[in-house]
Amino acid sequence: MSKPLSILAQGVRASTTIEIDSMYKKMKAEGIDVIGFGAGEPDFNTPDNIKLAAIVAINNNFTKYTPSSGTLSLRQAVCDRLFEDCKVSYTPSQIVVSNGAKQCLYLALSVLTNPGDEIIFQAPYWVSYYEMVKMTGGNPVIVETGEESGWKLTPEMLETAITPKTKALILNSPSNPSGVVYTKEELQGLADICVKHDIYVIADDIYYKLIYDGLEFTCIASLGEEIKKLTILINGVSKSYAMTGWRIGYLAAEPEIATVIGNFQSHASSNPNSIAQAAAEEALTGPQSGIETMRRAFEGRRDYFLEKASKIKNIKCIHPHGAFYIMMDVSYYFGKNLYGKRIENADDFANLFLDKGLVALVPCTGFGAPKHVRWSYATSMENIKTGLERLEIFLEG
Ligand SMILES: Cc1ncc(COP(=O)(O)O)c(C=O)c1O
Repeated sequence: MSKPLSILAQGVRASTTIEIDSMYKKMKAEGIDVIGFGAGEPDFNTPDNIKLAAIVAINNNFTKYTPSSGTLSLRQAVCDRLFEDCKVSYTPSQIVVSNGAKQCLYLALSVLTNPGDEIIFQAPYWVSYYEMVKMTGGNPVIVETGEESGWKLTPEMLETAITPKTKALILNSPSNPSGVVYTKEELQGLADICVKHDIYVIADDIYYKLIYDGLEFTCIASLGEEIKKLTILINGVSKSYAMTGWRIGYLAAEPEIATVIGNFQSHASSNPNSIAQAAAEEALTGPQSGIETMRRAFEGRRDYFLEKASKIKNIKCIHPHGAFYIMMDVSYYFGKNLYGKRIENADDFANLFLDKGLVALVPCTGFGAPKHVRWSYATSMENIKTGLERLEIFLEG
């Protein structure tokens, strides 16, 4: 018998999103007419100017190691974009470019966390926060939110959750899965508490370009020098420029923190892909109009979805103001039978809907929202129409 694997590693759960997605892909490969609403990525193609920049990089043999925190020109491009879009001023020495926002989050948690440190975040939360906090030796402290607070964390809730062991708060606005967008005033309230208790903020701004209803994005680091010093800002090109597969994200932090994170990355993975860095630089410095086209399309789909879903009995959607997900409360069906099968939870609902309704959704059990399933509307209007028609038929049982 071989020696056991690391206890920490064995505690990591597989992502429910990926599980459903692989079942969906298997059914699709078998020729079954199944529709997927699981995807966490824009269904648009990466714009041509970005693809061209990558081709030029290859042709120019830009194919060697780069500085491990990313090329200077890309880090400068990140600073310029953050200054223009988020009203925060950084220098390239404060930026680390990595393999997606996800790895930036992992790096940030790795360098902040001592064993047993508490990391606060709200439920519903993005599934990876929970696992990543555990993977880096921290204790996740989850603050439940609900309809009363608009599915948002309030300064009072945050202050109640803080203990002497609290190290950081993870904030995600716009949020996956709820689509919640925090206002400037709300962020100011949370920032004040973090400054008061000297708590770091990991601000995951990856959906910052995808905001609807005329709302505006606020970056928490823009709210003053004190909170900026405590913030590790996370962003990337995946969602804003339809570049999920290119794997480029970035973080911005105080120079000392960025240096430690850079050192950490240099030994863990060296630099992110050189060609993808060239593409990301073009994304950040080239024409930005494609983002608005994509944002409008998402907003139109969201409106259509909510309008149609509002006519379906016994389900209820959270109205999202950003990102591209809709959380639907299906708890009316818990304890009831559909197709002769008893539905106990959101997992049962999603599995049965995939099997009988041929629609793939993500149960929000892993997102700390066990009454909900998540629909991604990063898919065509036609799919949304058919998906909701299938839901109506499915709910007849
Ligand atoms: C909230 C949130 N943060 C970060 C990421 C990771 O983005 P990236 O593709 O840049 O790693 C995702 C992707 O789904 C996300 O939903």
